[in-house]
Amino acid sequence: MEKEIAIKTENVNVIYDWGKPSETKALSDINTTIYEEDFVIFFGPSGCGKSTMLYTVSGIEKPTSGKIFVLGKNITEFSPMESAKFHRAQIGMVFQAYNLIPTLTVIDNVALPQVFRGISREKRLLRAKILLQRFDILPQADRLPSELSGGQQQRVGIARALINEQPIIFADEPVGNLDSKSAKIVLDILYDLNVKDKKTVILVTHDPSLLKYATHIIYMKDGFIVGEKRFSPKQREVTVSSQLEQPFVSSLSGFSSQSTTISPIESSAAEKSKKREEMAKELVETMQIDGTETARAVEPKIIQTEPKITAPQKELTIGELIKGNREQEQIKK
Ligand SMILES: Nc1ncnc2c1ncn2[C@@H]1O[C@H](COP(=O)(O)OP(=O)(O)OP(=O)(O)O)[C@@H](O)[C@H]1O
Ligand SMILES: [Mg+2]
Repeated sequence: MEKEIAIKTENVNVIYDWGKPSETKALSDINTTIYEEDFVIFFGPSGCGKSTMLYTVSGIEKPTSGKIFVLGKNITEFSPMESAKFHRAQIGMVFQAYNLIPTLTVIDNVALPQVFRGISREKRLLRAKILLQRFDILPQADRLPSELSGGQQQRVGIARALINEQPIIFADEPVGNLDSKSAKIVLDILYDLNVKDKKTVILVTHDPSLLKYATHIIYMKDGFIVGEKRFSPKQREVTVSSQLEQPFVSSLSGFSSQSTTISPIESSAAEKSKKREEMAKELVETMQIDGTETARAVEPKIIQTEPKITAPQKELTIGELIKGNREQEQIKK
């Protein structure tokens, strides 16, 4: 049976700070096809454009030029409203820093994307419970995210990314903050979602030990795709069950699979991209809620309609909530 195309990019370019001395070409002539039900990994060193790729193909960022088709729709032509609607229904996002709302309980975090789809509280809590049970975090349902371990919080993040039954899950370094045991649990969940639920999983990492999960590896360097490898689900099953590394990792010249040392140039690049990723995360939260309203406008609405949700001490934007969450994580580390 022919596989359906999930995402197709045509000559996609992303240039930051165009015309300024700091001009950066983050993506260059990206042409690739991602099929439904694949487990795709964008792999490459820090600053090579992996996150830019993820945010661009998921419709959060607009490319400078080129076309992107997601499930047959040209998302580069969408209005902000169409984009928000499409994103909410088709795409689930999982972040390295989880980005849960710290003032909401675990179950309310998971159910939140359904509030704005007009689904009754009873129905959305039931669905959230099923997901929490599946990921073995139901006993933590009424706790706040800060009372959970990193691995548990990431499982909440995955549950939230699935609540609207989105067929495509994007994950930017989803296990980057986790110890190896928690990371394996999270990766096994993503693998299970790909194998059993037939979700298309698209993950970004610089960690070669994750490559064994992929059926499609896209190697990136300096904003270019420098190689692609595809594996049948059968081949992948072998690598996952035998815990083998996917081959070809270091066969491409210039690829250091252990790129843990960061040069000053890379570190300024990492800083820039961090800022950009924070903005994108904020945007995703807003998109999950409503493309037309600002997060600040939405916040009081949650409090009015949701008696179980504790109101923040002062009126916070979603961005501030996320920032607070990130700071707490830093303190914990
Ligand atoms: N908002 C921005 N403004 C200017 N340049 C940016 C911005 N965001 C990213 N960049 C630059 O684009 C390039 C690609 O960044 P990107 O975040 O996609 O890399 P990455 O592969 O995800 O890196 P990492 O593994 O460190 O997360 C880098 O050179 C980065 O400095
Ligand atoms: Mg990145």
